[in-house]
Amino acid sequence: MNLEDYITSHSDTEPEYLDKINRATHLRMINPRMLSGHFQGRVLTMFCHMIQPEKVLEIGTFTGYSALCMAEGMPENGIVHTIDCDDELENFIIDNFSGSEFGHKIKLHIGDALTEIAKLDETFDLVFIDADKVEYKAYYEAVLPKVRTGGYVLVDNTLWDGKVLKPVDPKDKETMAIMEFNDFIAADKQVEKVLLPIRDGLTLIRKID
Ligand SMILES: C[S@@+](CC[C@H](N)C(=O)[O-])C[C@H]1O[C@@H](n2cnc3c(N)ncnc32)[C@H](O)[C@@H]1O
Repeated sequence: MNLEDYITSHSDTEPEYLDKINRATHLRMINPRMLSGHFQGRVLTMFCHMIQPEKVLEIGTFTGYSALCMAEGMPENGIVHTIDCDDELENFIIDNFSGSEFGHKIKLHIGDALTEIAKLDETFDLVFIDADKVEYKAYYEAVLPKVRTGGYVLVDNTLWDGKVLKPVDPKDKETMAIMEFNDFIAADKQVEKVLLPIRDGLTLIRKID
């Protein structure tokens, strides 16, 4: 048994409705690794149980797995707005939401994240950033004014397979963007932050100003 197996086998099991989405994503999608998966999914649910957010924004829906994990942990009156630019995913996402008892808490927006964020006249308790890595800083700057003081921003893939530690090819735009984003957040005095070594790196940010 490796460390990852030990961790998952000593955490809650993946609910059946999510196991189905996980399997269907692996069968139907070219890049199934984008899905949060069993362990990170349980972490997202637990964070939502802890924070009890009524309004969540997710940037990067993919097949709906992480949106459902968050909806599962939110209060009954909670709503997740989730954005994805890939309209070919729309029917699959809708089927996944309808096949779950938490789908009614989720509103899907198909379109470019920055365009859709600008249209949302909401104040969020929690934002989960998990779309185009090159745009991370732009997403963060667009959402932070819409996060309540004391609210949270979670950012996925901030360790980027360990590439943030190694000499980087300046043509590797995604690694460069994540490194710049991490440095920017580390220096941002408007927020408290911890980079958690969960899966591919999950930065937890709290707005204090
Ligand atoms: C890593 S996946 C999201 C995974 C999902 N959060 C989960 O954990 O199951 C990233 C998603 O971001 C979407 N995306 C990429 N660029 C985007 C953009 N500019 N606007 C909106 N969505 C975008 C992609 O289509 C893809 O589905």
